[in-house]
Amino acid sequence: MRRIADVGAAVIGTGFIGTVHVEALRRIGVQVRGVLGSTPERGAARATTLGVPRAYDDLADLLRDPLVEVVHVTSPNDLHLPQTLAILAAGRHVVCEKPLAMSAAESRQLVDAAAASGLVNAANFNIRYYPLNQHAHDLVTGGGIGDVRLVTGRYFQDWLLLESDWNWRLQPERGGALRAVGDIGSHWLDLMAFVTGERIVAVMAELATFIEARHQPTGPVETFSTDRASETVTRAIATEDAATILLRFENGARGAVSISQISAGRKNSLQYEIDGAASSVAWDSEQPDQIWLGHRERANEILIKNPALMGPSGQAAAALPGGHVEGFGDTFAAHFRAVYADVVAGGPSSRRSYPTFADGHDEMLVNDAIAESARLGRWVAVVRDPTATAAASQEAHVR
Ligand SMILES: NC(=O)c1ccc[n+]([C@@H]2O[C@H](COP(=O)([O-])OP(=O)(O)OC[C@H]3O[C@@H](n4cnc5c(N)ncnc54)[C@H](O)[C@@H]3O)[C@@H](O)[C@H]2O)c1
Repeated sequence: MRRIADVGAAVIGTGFIGTVHVEALRRIGVQVRGVLGSTPERGAARATTLGVPRAYDDLADLLRDPLVEVVHVTSPNDLHLPQTLAILAAGRHVVCEKPLAMSAAESRQLVDAAAASGLVNAANFNIRYYPLNQHAHDLVTGGGIGDVRLVTGRYFQDWLLLESDWNWRLQPERGGALRAVGDIGSHWLDLMAFVTGERIVAVMAELATFIEARHQPTGPVETFSTDRASETVTRAIATEDAATILLRFENGARGAVSISQISAGRKNSLQYEIDGAASSVAWDSEQPDQIWLGHRERANEILIKNPALMGPSGQAAAALPGGHVEGFGDTFAAHFRAVYADVVAGGPSSRRSYPTFADGHDEMLVNDAIAESARLGRWVAVVRDPTATAAASQEAHVR
């Protein structure tokens, strides 16, 4: 029988999140055969630092490596479509970062190509894999808080607060037409669909660009870097620093979310509260090992992550006993353990629980509706094409 240690993988992109992928893959026992950077020289330097056997010259070189069965795409958003199509065409399983693509038209192509290939495909919505978010999914979809009525929250960061802050995400041709929504809002929107088991069907969005010109360094910039470049050029900014969005869910629940990359002091603050007919549940990414359960007629509770006290999905995602905090990097290992069970088995199982390209596409459809709503200044329905609906319902069914 094949084991996870028999599987070889390669990672495209060696920046902030590519490094997290390499570390998580090693932790679960996958052989990381090599990495691909933006140039052979950058890739080679990162391979040395990470202790990875080789750096590939280009994607074709990577796809010629017979030891690579799975490719992780952690390059900027504009490369997700062409790289992932090439990977699937070469018969390799693929894990692609969020947002899945630049638009729903692109992500639709990825869903179709993945379905035609019969290969394992995963969208890296890793935040689902905090053990307590898996537990919340079991609790809420199992009716544990009653019918879901209100879904509220925020995702705030501050790393693009200053006009001297720069990253490829600010360029629509690299990051997409939506920036704060596509970059971090995508996590919150996917997470709420996952925890509630309800898809978003309509949105009313306002987008705000407070910093209308920024100083782009003439050299490369690392994500989350606070270094200040001495030589810059001034660029007009077209994408949103912040968004405020009203939501309607399939079951009639209402929601509201604020998204910002310019909230001083908020480094990476994702919060949600889901109010049901009987109880409420709330979680904060900056205190990921506890979840608040609100009640009307008995005392509220705080559940500290503990495999012995969580449902089966929470237990499966937890790698450490209660009292031993699991954080951002751990979610990647928990997600990849679920994905690689299918890789070892040779293809996607009908009972897969991890987020697939169908989920990534569904989130892109919500993003497109948000952009349209902000442009028109009114409510916009999320338009789902029939095949995507079938794929998403199948996903919902198997969970
Ligand atoms: N799941 C998460 O929590 C999470 C967090 C951060 C980023 N992301 C996603 O990961 C992706 C990368 O983000 P990042 O923050 O790591 O960016 P980054 O700028 O830190 O890294 C991007 C990497 O891609 C490489 N690259 C650029 N062009 C390339 C090419 N043609 N071929 C191969 N590699 C190339 C760059 O050299 C760099 O190493 C984005 O899609 C982003 O949305 C996800």
